[in-house]
Amino acid sequence: MTQPRRAPGGFPVVGVIGGGQLARMMQSPAIALGIQLSVLAEAADASAALVVPSSPVGEHTDLESVRAFAAACDVVTFDHEHVPQDVLQALEADGVVLHPRPGALRFAQDKLAMRERLTALGISCPRWARATTVSDVTAFGDATGWPVVAKAPRGGYDGKGVRVIGSADEVADWLAEVGSDGPLGDGMLLEERVDFVRELAVLVARSPSGQAAAWPVVQTVQTDSICTQVLAPAPGLDPHLAAVVTAAGLRIAGELDVTGVLAVEMFEVRTGAGDPAYVVNELAMRPHNSGHWSIDGAVTGQFEQHLRAVLDLPLGDPGARAPWTVMGNVLGGDHPELYRAYLHVMARDPGAKVHMYGKGVRPGRKIGHVTVCGASLEDVRARATHAADYLQGVIDE
Ligand SMILES: Nc1ncnc2c1ncn2[C@@H]1O[C@H](COP(=O)(O)OP(=O)(O)O)[C@@H](O)[C@H]1O
Ligand SMILES: [Mg+2]
Repeated sequence: MTQPRRAPGGFPVVGVIGGGQLARMMQSPAIALGIQLSVLAEAADASAALVVPSSPVGEHTDLESVRAFAAACDVVTFDHEHVPQDVLQALEADGVVLHPRPGALRFAQDKLAMRERLTALGISCPRWARATTVSDVTAFGDATGWPVVAKAPRGGYDGKGVRVIGSADEVADWLAEVGSDGPLGDGMLLEERVDFVRELAVLVARSPSGQAAAWPVVQTVQTDSICTQVLAPAPGLDPHLAAVVTAAGLRIAGELDVTGVLAVEMFEVRTGAGDPAYVVNELAMRPHNSGHWSIDGAVTGQFEQHLRAVLDLPLGDPGARAPWTVMGNVLGGDHPELYRAYLHVMARDPGAKVHMYGKGVRPGRKIGHVTVCGASLEDVRARATHAADYLQGVIDE
């Protein structure tokens, strides 16, 4: 293995596999921290490749490309969870420092492995089962009640790979759609459809030496299974539930030996007695959409904290800088041209922070976000909603 290339002053090089917006948003804090980033990008015009000078193009599934990339980095981390386990394990055997490590990352790569592990730890989950046949699906639905939620264990995002199945009759249709070698081949995750009050997320960062820090618990708002807004902190959250879910996030990070940022997506539910409670939806081991608010709204944003964590530096203060922060995702709409809308948003609201990812506009694609902080939730939410809606062409004034 060639010697890692340290930046001037002995500062380390952090390699990020994947050139999406998450890698891109690591670049600002890397600049401030004096850390050099290098990105293994899907294409020369990938979101992060446009802003990180060292962005070799290569496939994250190709061991030799990943190996050559990693050899020039001190630590390697991720923009997404799609690097295959055999590639990760080969890198680990080469002596590459990976954060998170493959043994932890598995639980963010495979929803069945995640359910098994969290259930073994006694963490609250929806009722679930592994299905390999149509009759497994029917039996689960008959036992827990229809509809049920079926999930491909791997590769899903923004609701792709998640399907609500309303009755036993729909199982066959759906199998025909996914094809005979579809996800059921390896086993499909089935979950009861949770009658949740709302969706929450707990974001924590943990370093290899075990230091951990948690941001305030947030509420995430999903529209058609895509996160569209995040409210920080989650309004009106029962303080006891906030403490319980934060402890659960920190415990999951410790038990799974997560390094870097861990996002725990949760559903807030009511117990039979009407008390607030939670069940875990899924895990992500990287900076996450539910933490974008922290760039402007917390003393230490998630991208800075992720870099600190993977380098085993002391962690920064995750506390909020304002009573309320609302982050609105900007999804691509029908207008490919955004610049005029962008001018309007800045002119209308000088307090709004606009973040664009340098991505081409495609309907439904996450192309940016807007954050507003302030003392009144109603005010910051209305402003963040307006700015995001305007940028995605929903409003015309
Ligand atoms: N068991 C469930 N009960 C009710 N809603 C669910 C359930 N699982 C997922 N959902 C809804 O679907 C969304 C996407 O599911 P998720 O498992 O988080 O997939 P993805 O990997 O695409 O984010 C969730 O944010 C939630 O709104
Ligand atoms: Mg999700």
